[in-house]
Amino acid sequence: MDNDSFRPRILLVSVGMYGQKYLSEATGRDVGGDVIGIVDVADNLPEKFPVIAEKRIPVYRSLEEFFRRDHADLAVISSPIHLHVGMALQCLAQGVHVLCEKPLCLTEEETLRLEQAAREAGRFLAVGWQLNYDRAVLNLKRDILAGRFGAPKRMRCVHAMRRGENYYARSHWAGKILADGREVLDSPFMNACAHNFQLMTFLLGGRMETPLQLLSAEGELYRGNPHVENYDIAFLRFRAERGITLCYETAHPLETKNLGPDGVSEFEHAVLTWGRGQPYRVVTDAGEEILYGAAGATPLMQKLDDAVRCVREGTAPLCGARAGLGHLQAVRMAQQLPIRDVDPSRVAWIDAEGDRFPCVQGLEDALCRCGEHWALPGEMGIQL
Ligand SMILES: NC(=O)c1ccc[n+]([C@@H]2O[C@H](COP(=O)([O-])OP(=O)(O)OC[C@H]3O[C@@H](n4cnc5c(N)ncnc54)[C@H](O)[C@@H]3O)[C@@H](O)[C@H]2O)c1
Repeated sequence: MDNDSFRPRILLVSVGMYGQKYLSEATGRDVGGDVIGIVDVADNLPEKFPVIAEKRIPVYRSLEEFFRRDHADLAVISSPIHLHVGMALQCLAQGVHVLCEKPLCLTEEETLRLEQAAREAGRFLAVGWQLNYDRAVLNLKRDILAGRFGAPKRMRCVHAMRRGENYYARSHWAGKILADGREVLDSPFMNACAHNFQLMTFLLGGRMETPLQLLSAEGELYRGNPHVENYDIAFLRFRAERGITLCYETAHPLETKNLGPDGVSEFEHAVLTWGRGQPYRVVTDAGEEILYGAAGATPLMQKLDDAVRCVREGTAPLCGARAGLGHLQAVRMAQQLPIRDVDPSRVAWIDAEGDRFPCVQGLEDALCRCGEHWALPGEMGIQL
């Protein structure tokens, strides 16, 4: 079969809050392949997603059940974090290429094991860090690596998103450190607001396919929502290879729906800025302005198109198992820091959009001020 007529058979593993985006994308337009099955333990999927009946997509309750009856070329895994490793290994062992949602796994050892499993299977293991598929980001990284702006010195970003009761109620692992006896380390830094931090480690990595290595962390973690097990507010500062500093501020219990991303990176001879709806913008010391396309110009689901194309072409997406290593190192270092409870008198609960949100007073201001000063709240005299 030539590449033009080969349409990869796509298996969607889990169609929960995020996995349903793959379902609507892959059934709503031509992505170059066809959804031939769904694996999920949820009961009501055909009622929830009429397209399942319309397109006669079989639903299986486990990968074992699917592999007993059928085969696929590409598995797209959007299951809870702690199931990724086992499911990815199972798919690779069956000779199926894998696009797994981020984070791929929770340890460096698992990352390397998965990378090796993919190599041995002769299949790719791509990870769904969507900003790593963004054409503007890729062009920017090429220029950074070519030394166009000089050596990177430090990089910071504030990115927070309001999340309330519905978000935490959707699944038993949300906001948990452990689920089903296994680590999940779920937090805004680990999960919903992970992308811009992972982007920072991607952009400053020493090669196109490798992220920046982190060495140590300082920070302050808080729990604003008393019903969350893990932290939901993080002020973090990391030391990385080549003397680079990274600062990141993120949170869920805030009044503002979306704060940032608001990113700045200082290089020897230039400054990079990026933000919501803004192009990645570099201004050099000589006054030259370089714009790298509007943020969002590449569709968020480009990763699916790229993965299908790679299956057809026999290539592999750039965003492989190691892409998340810098973020993973940071998550694990952050998790060692103590978590302090915010005084409940400082948390107001608001009702909006059929949901209920805890909002820590003054949090937006604290996140932005710490970001601007590359500082932690204690250093700024800020108390939460
Ligand atoms: N790239 C992004 O922007 C982005 C955004 C949100 C979430 N995610 C990632 O997507 C993944 C899923 O997150 P979510 O928020 O959709 O989770 P979720 O809890 O909302 O959905 C998980 C789905 O997995 C199913 N499931 C549970 N156990 C299963 C099993 N044993 N076998 C098959 N299916 C099973 C559940 O029924 C549910 O449909 C996570 O890795 C998360 O970090 C990525």
